[in-house]
Amino acid sequence: MGYYLIEGGKPIGGEFAVRGSKNAALPILAATLLAEDEVVLENCPLIRDFYLTLDILRTLGCKAELTGRTAVIDTRQIKDVKIQEETVQKMRSSILFLGALLGREKRAILGHPGGCAIGKRPIDIHLSSFEKMGVEINEEDGLFYCSAPHILGYHIYLKYPSVGATENLLLLAAKAEGVTVIHNAAREPEIVALVHFLRACGAEIYGEGTPSIMIEGVKKLHGAYFSIPFDRIEAGTFLCASAMTGGELSLLGVEKNDIETTLDVLQKTGCRFTFETERLRMMPPKQLKAELSLVTGPYPGFPTDMQPLIMSLLTLAKGTCMISETVFEARFRHAEELCRMGADIVIADRVAKIKGSPGLHGAEVFGRDLRGGAALLIAALAAEGKSTVYGSEYVERGYEKIEDAFSLLGGNVRLME
Ligand code: UD1
Repeated sequence: MGYYLIEGGKPIGGEFAVRGSKNAALPILAATLLAEDEVVLENCPLIRDFYLTLDILRTLGCKAELTGRTAVIDTRQIKDVKIQEETVQKMRSSILFLGALLGREKRAILGHPGGCAIGKRPIDIHLSSFEKMGVEINEEDGLFYCSAPHILGYHIYLKYPSVGATENLLLLAAKAEGVTVIHNAAREPEIVALVHFLRACGAEIYGEGTPSIMIEGVKKLHGAYFSIPFDRIEAGTFLCASAMTGGELSLLGVEKNDIETTLDVLQKTGCRFTFETERLRMMPPKQLKAELSLVTGPYPGFPTDMQPLIMSLLTLAKGTCMISETVFEARFRHAEELCRMGADIVIADRVAKIKGSPGLHGAEVFGRDLRGGAALLIAALAAEGKSTVYGSEYVERGYEKIEDAFSLLGGNVRLME
């Protein structure tokens, strides 16, 4: 197990150019299959999940090359329609290849995703919506065998605005026969990014960013040139780290609207902001303060991915705050580890009560998922003394060389593998 060695107590500040979004890039990589052509993607995040997704494309028979942050993907040829169980379990977003492969080849085989560290994460909404559009699904030996001689447009009502199911349906419907309307669709910026990409490839889609998305199936898509938008969770992670350590931070390349809920919380703890074209500057107070009650939820609600990081921040804010986690049932595993560093957090079911402590101290802690691991890392940066944060392999899934980025901003972090 890899780990980070951190010597805390140094302000994290300066200028940081936010990288391309993991949660936008992965669905777009799956969508390249529908283009059956060459696609050029700029501003790609150089993270483990991105590399793994490029490998999936290669395993399916496509060409994928990465030079710097530019990926050139040629999906004219494919030779397989199967996504292995280990791949799906390693990286949940690979279920999006189901919609993409069905949209392209009318058949797909997908390993069973199973549960994961943050919750059960079923895919019933994906599968039941697919069936409504004419996809036949058989489960055998832990694999889903899916096929559809005709994929037909349909009015689908999602019982929950699932991000993954909305993305999978966009992929399936882009080349379906007739019109599909997704009601109660997810509205996250990553959905908007996927639609922008599909539209650049010739898809006819309307209403992204609203609860009703209409897709008029087209016969063929084509290649495109597209730049991956900024990662709002990476932006939020660095803001929290600076706020906790008392550093002034300027973020470059961000869209204020997409991180409004995070900025709102930071503002309530006493941070001040100025914003000029794609440059956000944050000045934290001497002492963070907060009396807040946060509830995670689908966009435009408070993002579940930011929950562990904000919890970390609130451990140092004078006052008592509550966080309710409504999206995933097991996403508080970082709380116990934060307590080892001196945090005062009490969990009751899906609600966390956080009482601000005057300071955290270094400790040996274990990250067990991506954002939870990052939350421990920023707590360690703010803590007095040395910490060891295990589980770097989770953090590397979604953050690009986070140890270098924090070190350049004044922190003392080393990755040990
Ligand atoms: C979720 C987050 C997304 C985040 C990503 C990675 C939400 C709404 N979604 O997306 O912002 O970037 O994790 O951490 O915040 N569900 C079902 N059946 C399904 C699909 C989902 O019951 O078929 C449930 C899930 O168990 C979960 C909720 O719906 O409780 C949200 O899931 P969904 O949005 O699909 O998850 P992701 O696409 O992984």
